[in-house]
Amino acid sequence: MSKLDIRIEPVMQSAPAALPDPLGFGRHFTARMFTQYYTTGKGWHDAVIGPYRPLALDPAAQVFHCGQMIFDGTKAYARPDGNLNLFRVEKNAERFNLSASRLAMPEVDIDEHLEAISELVKLEHGWVPKQEGAALYIRPVMIAVENTLEVRASRTFLHYIILSPVAPYFAGGFKPVSVFVSDGYVRTVRGGTGEAKTPGNYAGSLAGTEEAIAAGYQQVLWLDAVERRYVDEVGAMNIAFVYDGKTIRTPMLSGAILHGVTRDSLLKLAPDLGYPVTQDRIDIHELMRDVESGRITEAFGMGTGAVIAPVGSLGYRGRNYKFASGEPGPVARKLFKGLTDIQYGRVADPYGWTRMVEVAGAKPRRASARA
Ligand SMILES: Cc1ncc(COP(=O)(O)O)c(C=O)c1O
Repeated sequence: MSKLDIRIEPVMQSAPAALPDPLGFGRHFTARMFTQYYTTGKGWHDAVIGPYRPLALDPAAQVFHCGQMIFDGTKAYARPDGNLNLFRVEKNAERFNLSASRLAMPEVDIDEHLEAISELVKLEHGWVPKQEGAALYIRPVMIAVENTLEVRASRTFLHYIILSPVAPYFAGGFKPVSVFVSDGYVRTVRGGTGEAKTPGNYAGSLAGTEEAIAAGYQQVLWLDAVERRYVDEVGAMNIAFVYDGKTIRTPMLSGAILHGVTRDSLLKLAPDLGYPVTQDRIDIHELMRDVESGRITEAFGMGTGAVIAPVGSLGYRGRNYKFASGEPGPVARKLFKGLTDIQYGRVADPYGWTRMVEVAGAKPRRASARA
């Protein structure tokens, strides 16, 4: 295991006695950030944890012209014993490197990347919200910083990590979202930047999302970009459908679908909770017939932000299909509790998914179980 030589710089600000209220999602950032640079021929260098600050970039930096940039997202969770849990961060690090190679960027050393995350989170433990369902969001980023207008891979890169205390995704409780099936816009394409976590894929999703909002919906269900027939994802989440209250069906990874860590975890957890899973190509016409006939009893998005976001209705070609009760379904509730109990360290982790970050002087909190 490599040992990253991180220089720790002093900061003026420490964690506030009380975190901002309301916290929102990704609106507040901690006092420190991690940075390191890459130079072709030299590799990664100058690893520093220093004050959170604006970046000074030349307007010709390659990221602004070619968009050579990747990011990822994971969370640190407050455990009842006062320490913190990181959840499957090595999966996020592998995905970060998958995105890097697709964008012709250098990979990071996984152990060093994880060490940077652990050190930063440890220093910033005072910013981890203790409120039920809240967490410290971790955002690693890599951008191309060579100053050139040439269309080619940059020779220098900046890798940084920032942290944001975030409120529970569903502030008012677990609420189903309305979803619009887009067949006008597509999000990404296999063979393109498809499954990479690069901002262009998100920028490309905004017009379709605005269209869905204008039509009275909250999220978009994306179809594949080649045939516009197979289900890819919902918003910035993976999607699953529950058949007959039991079997969980999700699109198989296709090259355009993000390798979601939550998806992967729920597909492993669900069978252990009594729900078999299948992964295949899901034809939208067949799917809508199954929604109409009542065979599909629930649908939900899966992602780090919400963990599970139940789908209440689907709008497709002028018709709106509602799921039975309009309330989150029993399978969504059970999976949500099963996974979040592991993430927050409220139960033993039989899968070895969590890494504990020890906090000096950690004091146990009163354990609270989510309904
Ligand atoms: C497009 C997209 N799909 C799915 C996900 C869910 O992935 P994860 O469970 O790793 O958060 C995300 C979030 O990162 C995403 O941006």
